[in-house]
Amino acid sequence: MPGLRAPSDYSQEPPRHPALLVNSKEPYNAEPHRSALVSSYVTPVEFFYKRNHGPIPIIDDINKFSVSITGLIENPKELYMKDILKLPKYAVTATLQCAGNRRTAMSKTRKVRGVGWDIAAIGNAVWGGAKLADVLELIGIPKLSHISPCGGKHVEFVSIDKCKEENGGPYKASIPLSQATNPEADVLLAYEMNGETLNRDHGYPLRVIVPGVIGARSVKWLDSINIIAEECQGFFMQKDYKMFPPSVNWDNIDWSMRRPQMDFPVQSAICSLDDVNNLKPGKITIKGYAVSGGGRGIERVDVSIDGGKTWVEASKYQKTGVPYISDNESSDKWGWVLFAAEADIPESTEIVAKAVDIGGNVQPENVEVIWNLRGILNTSWHRVRVQIDCSNM
Ligand code: MTE
Repeated sequence: MPGLRAPSDYSQEPPRHPALLVNSKEPYNAEPHRSALVSSYVTPVEFFYKRNHGPIPIIDDINKFSVSITGLIENPKELYMKDILKLPKYAVTATLQCAGNRRTAMSKTRKVRGVGWDIAAIGNAVWGGAKLADVLELIGIPKLSHISPCGGKHVEFVSIDKCKEENGGPYKASIPLSQATNPEADVLLAYEMNGETLNRDHGYPLRVIVPGVIGARSVKWLDSINIIAEECQGFFMQKDYKMFPPSVNWDNIDWSMRRPQMDFPVQSAICSLDDVNNLKPGKITIKGYAVSGGGRGIERVDVSIDGGKTWVEASKYQKTGVPYISDNESSDKWGWVLFAAEADIPESTEIVAKAVDIGGNVQPENVEVIWNLRGILNTSWHRVRVQIDCSNM
């Protein structure tokens, strides 16, 4: 904690891009217009969604900043920035997606609780930092461990921000030790985003990135790492970000019945069109993003211009000049794919997108079947309306 402090009010927030659509001012929660997401494979930092639960922490002296590693280990350790910078640096391209992405649309079916998000609580960035597996090795936990020498099975990340859900305490979350110590899971302690030093909104000076997992587990402004026997008991692990069936409401909910959500399911959305569009008849290009959790690549994106009766397969791409192959080394395993499909739209219609991942998982047709009271994981087919205006033709 030395060097990092958490304000109790919002008087010292960082500057933000004026084009962001603000869903809640304090704490600051904002997303870009959806069209910004398909302008580039890597989302620019200023247009990357920002999801906070309290005021943004401040660094007074970066040289004093350290992360304490405690819990079920023989020798607790203070890790300074210079220690982390000495470890091998990795650049991992990974999509971060808030579990509440597309919540506003879910709420239209039946009201849900939570910050309303359109389809842009998601972004794809190149995260630079040390692998957590290397950090844990420094404290005597070998790679590919399921249990630490002192009996730890989970790795808890604790921040410093003051969250009202934690009664003014910090944001925290945990992941299994087996994931934390697996170098191939690419869990990072990141200090860079898109080649620049992390900015305050995204976790400066150090944040966790857990690729393929809902954004809630990628703790920002990291203050301590605890090796623990059971998963983190914090609010955001135990009383939030869990997926309930449609029958559960606020009167009959039993939070202990469900596990904390980790991987996110297969998702896609059309970003080149708004929910309702007034167009002239003719050719259009339908563009959007598709991504799945757990490192599962995208096998296919289907696009329909007749409300889902017939489909065409969209083209998919990540980096220019490199063909995207879902399970190939040349592809970014944790990154989204952007898709594009040309269509001739002669009359008013509904355009739909759905993706299939390499596990054969496909997005559900309707939001009703996945409705849940917290409005998380809305991965239903994404639909937009086109109204064709033939006047003046
Ligand atoms: N970490 C801290 N300390 N405080 C937070 O409020 N929000 C989480 C996660 N890490 C949060 C946090 C959630 S819900 C998401 S979706 C991501 O950060 C958002 O990261 P971003 O703001 O960099 O896009």
